[in-house]
Amino acid sequence: MKHQFNHVYHGKRVLVTGHTGFKGSWLSLWLSELGAEVYGYALDAPTDPSLFDDADVAFVLAGHEIGDVRDRQNLKTYVRKVQPQIVFHLAAQPLVRFSYDEPAETFETNVMGTVNLLEAVRNTPSVRVCQVITSDKCYENREWVYAYRENDPMGGYDPYSNSKGCSELVVSSYRQSFFHSDRISEHGVSLSSVRAGNVIGGGDWALDRIIPDCIRALEKCEPINIRNPHAIRPWQHVLEPLSGYLWLAAKQYQEPGKFEEGWNFGPGSIGNVPVSGIAAMVVKEWGSGSYSCEHPDADRVHEAKFLKLDITKANDVLEWHPANSVGDAIDMTVGWYLAWSSGTESLREVTIDQIRAYSEKAARSGIFWAVNRDGQ
Ligand SMILES: NC(=O)c1ccc[n+]([C@@H]2O[C@H](COP(=O)([O-])OP(=O)(O)OC[C@H]3O[C@@H](n4cnc5c(N)ncnc54)[C@H](O)[C@@H]3O)[C@@H](O)[C@H]2O)c1
Repeated sequence: MKHQFNHVYHGKRVLVTGHTGFKGSWLSLWLSELGAEVYGYALDAPTDPSLFDDADVAFVLAGHEIGDVRDRQNLKTYVRKVQPQIVFHLAAQPLVRFSYDEPAETFETNVMGTVNLLEAVRNTPSVRVCQVITSDKCYENREWVYAYRENDPMGGYDPYSNSKGCSELVVSSYRQSFFHSDRISEHGVSLSSVRAGNVIGGGDWALDRIIPDCIRALEKCEPINIRNPHAIRPWQHVLEPLSGYLWLAAKQYQEPGKFEEGWNFGPGSIGNVPVSGIAAMVVKEWGSGSYSCEHPDADRVHEAKFLKLDITKANDVLEWHPANSVGDAIDMTVGWYLAWSSGTESLREVTIDQIRAYSEKAARSGIFWAVNRDGQ
C-alpha cells in the first residue's frame, strides 16, 4: 500500500489530533499501513466501547499524548517535540445535540482548539502541511435542495455547526496572515480545510448518530427509534473522505502553494439519502430487526433537514472521486459490526482488511490516489 498517494507518507512524521476518535483511529491505521510514523494528540477515547481500544490503535503509533487542545502550551510543547511534517487536525466536540447542552465547551474546543493548533504549527518549523477537518455543517444552511459549494457563506444554526463555521474563519485568517500561499517559500506551510458529509463505518459508538443507534438497538433485539426519518444527509463510508484528506495533503506536500483552500469531500448526489433509508439498509444487511419513526425526542432541538455537498472542485482539480455507493458503505459498516458482535476476530485486522479492500477497489476503478503508477 506504500505506493498510494504518490508515496508521500512513507517515512513521514505525521501528527493526527483526535486520534482516539472514530475518524482519527481509521486515519491512524491507514497512515501506519502507508509507512508513516504516526503520532497522536487527543483526550481519551470519547466512547466505551471505542475503535481506538477495540483495534488497539495505540499499537501502531510511534507516540501519542492524552492532552487537551484547549491547553495551548501543552499542545505547542507536544507538536514541537514531535516535529511533524504533516498535521491532520480532527480533535473536536463533534455532536450537534451535545452542543446544545454544552455550547461554551463546544466553541472552546472547536474554535480555540483550532487557534491553538495553528499557533503550535506557527512555532514548529518542520511542518509542511496542515489540514483542518471541519464539516459540511460549516455552511449557512438555507434548507434548500442545492448542494453547497466551497465558496458559499459560512454559518451554522446550532453551536456545533457554527463552531465549525468559526473554525473555517480561523483557518482563513491564519492563512492570510501567516501562511499565505504567495509567501510559501518564507513560512513553508501549506494550510487547507476540509468539509466532509455524514460519515459511517465500523467502530463509531457516538451518541445520537444513526449507525451506532441502529447497532445498539439491533444488539438488544429492540426496534431502532429514528429521530429525523426524513432528514437528508450526504452519507459516505469513513474511508471516502479520509482518501480525500490524504490525497489533498499529499498534493499540498508535493506542490506547495496550489491547494491552500477549503475542499468538500462528499458522496456525490447518489449518496444523499434520508435517515430512514439508512436504517432500512442496516436492518436488511444485519439480517433481522425493525425501525420506528416515533422517537419521543424527535423535535427537541433544531437540526438541519437538507444538507448536500457539491464535490465538483475535488473531482476536477484533484481528480478525487468516491469509490463506493451508499449500499457498499452500509455493507462494509454492518460487516464490521457483525465481526465485532461475533467477538471472534481481531478488530485491528478487520479494520485494516477493509482499508486494503477499499484501496484495491479504488485502484480497480482507476481512482488516481490508489493507482500504482510505478508498477511496483
Ligand atoms: N463523524 C462524522 O460524521 C463527521 C462529519 C463531519 C465532520 N466530522 C469531524 O471529524 C472530526 C472527527 O470526528 P469523529 O466522528 O471521529 O469524532 P469522535 O468524537 O469520535 O472523535 C473526536 C476526537 O477529538 C478528541 N477531542 C475531543 N475534545 C478534545 C479536546 N478538548 N482536546 C483534545 N482532544 C479532544 C477526542 O478525544 C477524539 O479523539 C471532528 O472534527 C468532527 O467535527 C465528523
